[in-house]
Amino acid sequence: MTTSLWRQHVLPFSIILGLLATITLLSDYFLHLLNLVWVGRYLGIPGTILIIGSLVYSLRKRKYISLGNPKSLLTLHEFMAWLGSLFVLIHAGIHFNAILPWLATVAMSVNVVSGMVGKFLLDPSRRHLQEQRQDYLQRGLQQPEVEQAVFWDAVALDAMTKWRKIHIPIFIVFAVLALGHIISIFLFWGWV
Ligand code: HEM
Repeated sequence: MTTSLWRQHVLPFSIILGLLATITLLSDYFLHLLNLVWVGRYLGIPGTILIIGSLVYSLRKRKYISLGNPKSLLTLHEFMAWLGSLFVLIHAGIHFNAILPWLATVAMSVNVVSGMVGKFLLDPSRRHLQEQRQDYLQRGLQQPEVEQAVFWDAVALDAMTKWRKIHIPIFIVFAVLALGHIISIFLFWGWV
């Protein structure tokens, strides 16, 4: 059971998060090597558009729109938000001049991780803990003994639930900070 939880959920979670980090670092390395840092500068725009596009799922979920299958839109949300974040991470690169965009990047990264915790880890872990509790009860353990036996799993589940809960509040922090950064860049470019 624990092996399947690891293989089916923890491993894909780690791979997809690892890919985000690895592709970011490799792209940044090659953009610098090939003197193409300006490409990264502009990747902020498609990245932001993808993230905004991924919000169609939220509109559907909250019934602001009635078009589209919620399940397919969720898959699209996950994919577009992941790809958009990848573009924005490459865009952020390794330059440290301004604090505001970096705070936005940190908030965005927390946002991506919290979404992935919800998708890959939370539901299966909930089921796993439920099954474990039932299993112990069937084996004749008393309730306090069961709670003792699953204590650390319950602590881990609680931490994951908290991660999932911050998904929307941290998105709002990210959106406000990113907007500040984008408006200041557009003012600087004379686009507004
Ligand atoms: C329309 C979208 C965006 C545009 C046009 C844009 C444009 C830019 C430009 C021109 C710079 C270079 C500033 C400089 O050289 O000092 C920059 C840097 C940066 N941007 Fe963006 N950006 C966009 C979206 C975002 C988003 C959504 C994030 C984060 C969530 C972000 C994070 C960063 C970071 C971390 C830097 C590096 C700041 C530094 O040098 O310290 N950008 N952006």
